[in-house]
Amino acid sequence: MKTFQTIIVEREKAFVTLTINRESKLNALNQETLHELAQALDLLENDNAVRGIVLTGAGEKAFVAGADIGEFVGLSIGEAKKKAAYGHFHIMDRIQSFPKPIIAAVNGFALGGGLELAMACHIRVASDNAKFGLPEVSLGIIPGYGGTQRLPQLVGRGKALEMIMTGDMIDAAEALQWGLVNRVVSLAELMSACRELLDKISTRSGQAISKAITAVQTGLEDSRQGQRREIELFGESFGTDDCKEGVQAFLERRKPNF
Ligand code: COA
Repeated sequence: MKTFQTIIVEREKAFVTLTINRESKLNALNQETLHELAQALDLLENDNAVRGIVLTGAGEKAFVAGADIGEFVGLSIGEAKKKAAYGHFHIMDRIQSFPKPIIAAVNGFALGGGLELAMACHIRVASDNAKFGLPEVSLGIIPGYGGTQRLPQLVGRGKALEMIMTGDMIDAAEALQWGLVNRVVSLAELMSACRELLDKISTRSGQAISKAITAVQTGLEDSRQGQRREIELFGESFGTDDCKEGVQAFLERRKPNF
């Protein structure tokens, strides 16, 4: 696997751990990190042997403490729009509709762009020391990598606006209660909990999982279109070997071999 400067891509059998590796800056996302993430996503999407990804931050303090605020200095309106568009289209949307499961292992602060990155992932598992927030309004800006769109989907409009307008952080227990994360474990158990989830998902049909991600994603953007996509993909799944194997295995009372 290619070597990067600001991220680490580690492969273990069919699973990849992707680590944002700028620990001294609490893994803040600078342009280089975003470009490297986009390149890594290309490689991982095209690698048929990869079945799932865990995305995390280096160290024990932060998942990602936001976009790199140092890069905000002197940004023009046009440049800021370009920056947000790059994050939306090349990273966050890409992760959200990625055809293989991506789990965020949130191991500490997930703030601003860090929370937006975690929210773009399909599933979020947090360590009990994790903290979540969208503090952008305290910088005089608003979330720019999808925070105003994905947070209401996960926690509802009222709680989302409370988090966005106060800029306050919530802890892992609150995040679990609010539906922002799927589960909370100790920091020591975080990676194995994510790995267990991927292990389980990988026993299911990979092509069916990709189709399910697409259908869910399409419906979040446009519910009518989502229904049509679901019908189409449901139909298409009947033309796959996985469907023949899955149905046959059920009838023969054995585990399917996808
Ligand atoms: N961008 C750039 N650098 C960041 C950063 C960010 N989003 N978040 C943290 N860092 C850097 C700090 O500048 C510091 O660097 P330095 O040692 O070279 O001065 C280093 O990471 C450690 O952070 P520090 O603030 O000293 O740690 P702390 O424990 O006192 O506070 C936080 C932790 C997360 C509360 C604090 O770093 C913070 O508020 N970060 C910004 C969060 C934010 O607003 N994110 C949204 C951006 S849109």
